[in-house]
Amino acid sequence: MDILGIGFIGAGFSARFHLRGLVGVRGAEVVAVYSRTEKSAKEFSALSEELGLGRPRVYRDLHEMLADPRVNAVWITTPNDLRVEHVKAVTEEARQGKGNIVGVAIEKPLARNYKEAKEVVDMIERAGLLHGYLENQVFMPSFTKGREVVWCYGAKYSGRPYLARAAEEHSGPHSPWFWRPSISWGGVLLDMACHSIEASRVMLSDPSKPKGSLRPKKVLGKIAFLKWAKERYAEEIKRRFNVDFKKEPAEDYAIVIISYEDENGELVIGEARTSWAFVGVGLRLTFEVLGPEYSLYVTTHQPELFAFMSRNVKIPPSEAFIEKQNSDQGLMPVIPDEAVTYGYQAEDRHMVESFLRKRMPWENLRDGLLVVELMMLAYLSAEKGQEINYERTLIEDYIPRIAKHSSTG
Ligand SMILES: NC(=O)c1ccc[n+]([C@@H]2O[C@H](COP(=O)([O-])OP(=O)(O)OC[C@H]3O[C@@H](n4cnc5c(N)ncnc54)[C@H](O)[C@@H]3O)[C@@H](O)[C@H]2O)c1
Repeated sequence: MDILGIGFIGAGFSARFHLRGLVGVRGAEVVAVYSRTEKSAKEFSALSEELGLGRPRVYRDLHEMLADPRVNAVWITTPNDLRVEHVKAVTEEARQGKGNIVGVAIEKPLARNYKEAKEVVDMIERAGLLHGYLENQVFMPSFTKGREVVWCYGAKYSGRPYLARAAEEHSGPHSPWFWRPSISWGGVLLDMACHSIEASRVMLSDPSKPKGSLRPKKVLGKIAFLKWAKERYAEEIKRRFNVDFKKEPAEDYAIVIISYEDENGELVIGEARTSWAFVGVGLRLTFEVLGPEYSLYVTTHQPELFAFMSRNVKIPPSEAFIEKQNSDQGLMPVIPDEAVTYGYQAEDRHMVESFLRKRMPWENLRDGLLVVELMMLAYLSAEKGQEINYERTLIEDYIPRIAKHSSTG
């Protein structure tokens, strides 16, 4: 296979980011798309063509798309509550051998709880498919270069890093379903701590050792409702998204501290700090690493490009400068290509190359499953108000309290 034909399930925000990421990736063509609304699928198809990635055929029936012989891999980019349903469809088709699918790539979080995540992994492994976990942040050029600096210089000449902090903060998600824990089964912990947990774990992992060489030992989680559950802001959510946030609030602050044991039995700590209650110029990603004789810092708010708009200009609200942009005046960072900066391009390249070579991606669903375990333990820890041991049995059937007032929870 020289060209990987990709079929997308879902055509929203993250799918469009992947299109921009796939620009510049050799050996990929977007051949098909299936989404809930034909309108968004058609817009996605037109964008793909405009970006030179092919004109994907719009399918109204998922099974028909999966049986299309030109589809060699599927990118699943639908909301969290649909993971099991969509993976079931993909694996049924693959097992019946109707199509030509070799691999599946799935957006974060892998699922809404451990049971669903395990079911997803089991179905895909039973079907014999290659699988990638779409955790873009561990593919960010600043992150991968930073990891190289840490391990090839800091760790080599002074000792391994012992603390990694990863943070993702913005002013709240863009689609109504994120604000409804009855659908998503979580707030910012599920939505964004998944990124920061994995980024800190990967940063602390010795690249010369097997991926799972760091063993989680203890998890401490705290969540809070700092902004959006307040009357005034809940009304704003009602107005913008038609969601009754008072009835089903989701946490907008989360911190997760994970203690790991390294290959030599030494303690190392990964911190994940996330918030939907951050008002700054826009989405902010930061990573910090501490080692015996070194430290390292990454922030997406100090790019090469800044723009200044005076008080005399009124430009309409947009996200042209930075994702989740909050301001159109003053001094603002501008990220020239967010798909590159946030890691989508390197991530998509890795998935495409792996599937073309019939190799298991380096970041795969086993990583996504571990991240779900750690998030569930963090929710449980937050509920109990204490640090808890890393024990899978504690969360095998667990559903966070935040999701329990849903009819399905
Ligand atoms: N890696 C990242 O940084 C990142 C960023 C955003 C979203 N995500 C993840 O991607 C997933 C999707 O999020 P999003 O922001 O793209 O959401 P979105 O609301 O922007 O888009 C969702 C897409 O799924 C489609 N859809 C909804 N229900 C469907 C159904 N029943 N069948 C088929 N299609 C359906 C919608 O029409 C839409 O095209 C989520 O799991 C989210 O966590 C990841």
